[in-house]
Amino acid sequence: MRADGAIPVWPEAISAHADSVDALAIGFFALIWTLALPIGFAIVWFGWRYRRLNEDVDRKQRHHGLTWLELSWMIVPFLLALVFFTWSALLFRDLHRPPADAREVYAIGLQWMWKFEHPGGQREINTLHVPAGEPVRVIMNSQDVIHSLYLPELRIKQDVVPGRTTSLWFRADDPGSYSLRCAEYCGVSHSRMVGELVVMAPAAFEAWLAGTEAGLPLARAGEALFRELGCSGCHGANAAVRAPGLADLYRRPVPLASGETVIADERYLTDSILMPESQVVAGYEPVMPSFQDVVTESELVALVAYIKSLSGREGERE
Ligand code: CUA
Repeated sequence: MRADGAIPVWPEAISAHADSVDALAIGFFALIWTLALPIGFAIVWFGWRYRRLNEDVDRKQRHHGLTWLELSWMIVPFLLALVFFTWSALLFRDLHRPPADAREVYAIGLQWMWKFEHPGGQREINTLHVPAGEPVRVIMNSQDVIHSLYLPELRIKQDVVPGRTTSLWFRADDPGSYSLRCAEYCGVSHSRMVGELVVMAPAAFEAWLAGTEAGLPLARAGEALFRELGCSGCHGANAAVRAPGLADLYRRPVPLASGETVIADERYLTDSILMPESQVVAGYEPVMPSFQDVVTESELVALVAYIKSLSGREGERE
């Protein structure tokens, strides 16, 4: 139910992408009915017209192929599929390409709650505060099973997968309080994995951020952890083991021993910490142990934030 008491048939649209997503959904809806209605009518009509008891039809009449008709029902749906593929792909690409100045927030899904961490060290549970009118990039990890972060008013939904980092970005335009939920069945309390998205005017958001009790900024917490876990023993300046350098690594291309080249984004950094053997860097020995059972998801987020900070791209807004 909405605040005005109306039962929502269609959630409010408050994001930069919402109208495009709605247009695509309506487009698909129109396409489906454009195809389904004539076929449905044809089935009923043929069933009626050629029923056994109808003696008015000439049953000896035969057609042997109508080339233009045969071609048209291959070509028209093919073209329509191409149009819808291109339309969806462009929107998908846009949703996965955040503007460079997007504010970042980390989300961790677990049975059964959402944890959010802001780069400044502010943490929230089941509530996410964001500024209105600014691009926000959500970087997601799961602590246990597959969840899905769903923000209906923003038309955003993304699976949150254990051992894999996913991300999306959005820009919420209207301040207010909106729903936030898990859209992937994840166990007995899945239905209670709900929260709130609070969109605030930018000044109010800054005030909220400043007034919220913050732990260490993520990058600083990550730096401490980096030393504690002994990462600096190999990835440091005077390390005994020759390990790939981390300075200025974030968003750079990395050549792998497999011959592939990957971009060092959050997913790459997470994978390198959890499954280093899966992407050995070209020219290095596969000696790094997995930290899968060593670090928690929150610690992982901090380590990734620290490595990003070495490229001067994290915490620019603090
Ligand atoms: Cu988490 Cu459903």
